[in-house]
Amino acid sequence: MNLFDISEKKVVFTGASGGLGQGMVEGMLEAGAHVVMVGASSKSSVLAARYQEKGWKAWGLQCDLGDHDELARGFNRALELLDGEIDVLVNAAGIQRRSKSEEFPLQDWEDVMNINLTVTFLLCQMAGRQMLRQGRGGKIINIASMLSFFGGFTVPAYAASKGGVAQLTKALCNEWAQYGITINAIAPGYMDTPMNAALTDPDNPRFREITNRIPAKRWGTSEDMKGLAIFLASPASDYINGAVIPCDGGYLVK
Ligand SMILES: NC(=O)c1ccc[n+]([C@@H]2O[C@H](COP(=O)([O-])OP(=O)(O)OC[C@H]3O[C@@H](n4cnc5c(N)ncnc54)[C@H](O)[C@@H]3O)[C@@H](O)[C@H]2O)c1
Repeated sequence: MNLFDISEKKVVFTGASGGLGQGMVEGMLEAGAHVVMVGASSKSSVLAARYQEKGWKAWGLQCDLGDHDELARGFNRALELLDGEIDVLVNAAGIQRRSKSEEFPLQDWEDVMNINLTVTFLLCQMAGRQMLRQGRGGKIINIASMLSFFGGFTVPAYAASKGGVAQLTKALCNEWAQYGITINAIAPGYMDTPMNAALTDPDNPRFREITNRIPAKRWGTSEDMKGLAIFLASPASDYINGAVIPCDGGYLVK
């Protein structure tokens, strides 16, 4: 038995077209999984068409997850595309807003909490119900952050939402582990993606400060996320549950 075998696993993946999501989704497709990529724009469908040309089983689905009715319709459509079944849910959709805390707009707070935490909960709930019905377990992978551990600067909503994702992951583990469902979170470190464009400017003092603190001496990439995503979706991680696993070049332990 190949402990890392995820071939033909049925995966619903949000945020698949983003900086980190794309790397993880390509890793899963290369490993033979069947993936419905849910994204805010038509980019998911464009990418899915490209993946289909490679012979990978990918579908793109445009859906504004921030609208909870649309989210429910999107999840049901994703299930239809996967013949009514789900083995793996990856919650990688996320947004960031920056302002000094004393000026942080309420609308930004609500948007960030909705997409990063409430949408993650709703999708875990829908996928969890379906996995319980199927009776053969399942895998849920949430995307946390270094800001699940640290407070950061000028990102109060993001820090609160990602702290919430870590705690939600543990809470769901406690209830669903007995049914063979694992729920874990990946906490990416400082990754060189568009979400961090404000930080990766070499003239920004925070860029040098952060780079100096990373023991690996480089920022992470979406490629660095592939192995962990496959591991957490595969039987190799069957007894790992409720964990928040850093993928950070050692940043957290320095
Ligand atoms: N980039 C980083 O350095 C970093 C670090 C730690 C954690 N993360 C987390 O990793 C995850 C992926 O980040 P990324 O860098 O790929 O971000 P990104 O901004 O490149 O992509 C975000 C993704 O979320 C989707 N999304 C956003 N709002 C949506 C909505 N309303 N409906 C549907 N989809 C929506 C987008 O379509 C896109 O695919 C996020 O949860 C992010 O918080 C990123």
